[in-house]
Amino acid sequence: RVLIIDFGSQVTQLIARRVREAGVYCEIVPFDRAPEGFARLEPQAVILSGGPASAAEMGTPRAPQEIFEAGVPILGICYGEQTMCAQLGGGVEPSDHREFGRAYLTVEDDCPLFEGVWAKGERHEVWMSHGDRVTALPPGFRVVGVSDGSPFAAICDESRRFYAVQFHLEVFHTPDGPRLIENFVRKIAGLTGDWSMAAFREEATRRIREQVGQGRVISGLSGGVDSSVASVLIHEAIGEQLTCIFVDHGLLRQGEAEQVVTLFRDHYNIPLVHVDAADRFISELEGKSDPEEKRKIIGRLFIEVFEEEAAKLGGADFLAQGTLYPDVIESVSFSGGPSVTIKSHHNVGGLPERMKLRLVEPLRELFKDEVRVLGRELGLPDSFVGRHPFPGPGLAIRCPGGITREKLQILRKADAIYLDEIRKAGLYDAIWQAFAVLLPVQTVGVMGDSRTYEYVCALRAVTSTDGMTADFYHFDMSFLGRAANRIVNEVKGINRVVYDVTSKPPGTIEWE
Ligand code: XMP
Repeated sequence: RVLIIDFGSQVTQLIARRVREAGVYCEIVPFDRAPEGFARLEPQAVILSGGPASAAEMGTPRAPQEIFEAGVPILGICYGEQTMCAQLGGGVEPSDHREFGRAYLTVEDDCPLFEGVWAKGERHEVWMSHGDRVTALPPGFRVVGVSDGSPFAAICDESRRFYAVQFHLEVFHTPDGPRLIENFVRKIAGLTGDWSMAAFREEATRRIREQVGQGRVISGLSGGVDSSVASVLIHEAIGEQLTCIFVDHGLLRQGEAEQVVTLFRDHYNIPLVHVDAADRFISELEGKSDPEEKRKIIGRLFIEVFEEEAAKLGGADFLAQGTLYPDVIESVSFSGGPSVTIKSHHNVGGLPERMKLRLVEPLRELFKDEVRVLGRELGLPDSFVGRHPFPGPGLAIRCPGGITREKLQILRKADAIYLDEIRKAGLYDAIWQAFAVLLPVQTVGVMGDSRTYEYVCALRAVTSTDGMTADFYHFDMSFLGRAANRIVNEVKGINRVVYDVTSKPPGTIEWE
């Protein structure tokens, strides 16, 4: 077991993720609850995260002193390095040479942290983000890596198994980071690396039982992967204390609603209320073309319908949500900041306060790909778990201009053909998200010997790792030709197809 002490870095969860990837169980505790965490977990290794404070100042967070005397290996990252130095008799000062972003580390000497990854004399890319720097080493330490801005970029005291780095080895932009963390937890701490998603499943069900007790839980199923995995996991933990409410707004992809209902009712036997609210949603949306207005209408109706159904069930104590870690960082990093609303995201925001429900969010620590692994672990079919992300407001935001039932129907058919072609070409898993958009533009075409005047369909496909940035997918032209041909031939109402070659930024993934 590894204890990660969190000093408030935006990327602490990435440390946890890397430790899990190395097959080792870990828990994160905030620095002010670290002494209890350390006593409870009895970890075989400790990692100190980065953080926004300045270790050079008095009164900033510190690690519990006893961890340094417990004989366990410790890895300090960024602020973790600085507090370690400050607590062990070294020196830390604010620096006028701040280092942010890509930097190069020169390996000054070999050490167990670098074993098999970096060798003396080599230079490697790392990611820095700090203002303070270490100015004097604590007794027993030596320097094993330097960068232009940090003479103590990597230091260690092998006899005590203390290691510290100024760079962020947990982030994507430190390419060798995962292997360094693996060295720390496996080779230095001697942990075996046999932890898996199966263990997460057990641990998570135990925590859900503990949190919920005898309470009643309702979950808002959207038909997507995250809320489905969360619901199946919670059902495993508390059985019939959970009821799922599936508000079907009539804006899902072809066949999706039926698939969710069958999966939950027949396969898992999980209590499910399927509310067919398509008429209610579509009659309010009809003719609306402003993207924000559409999103607001859908968000409001969703809450209304959900509340009505929950009241019919006699209320509940908890609301289950499939919130993932990237959702958590996004909302934390934007809160309080002068950020503008690009799109008001529709999830069940606002519901918990209104209905006075406490939240159960068992996936809060996980990333999308980890949720997929957990879903498979829980027996969800591959075809379901591997599905592309789908926005809460569904097809309504893929139908720019006024919404009509007819346009939604045309869009649904075109989308299904496009996805079918992508699957047949074996490309589905290489793409983050692919979908059709029905443009509010009609153009002239010729079919047989007749003139047509029908809609334009735009196809979109992107690659991404987190949805925050994206590139358009570089299809082969013959693939696009095939998909376009089928769409025009099989979908009445479309006579022209175009492909979107915009990345994000400056575009967004969805069109609205
Ligand atoms: P954009 O279009 O902002 O989308 O580049 C980024 C990712 O978020 C999805 N998306 C949403 N997901 N509720 C959601 O749950 C929403 O309102 C929403 N809007 C966009 C989008 O599909 C992409 O994966």
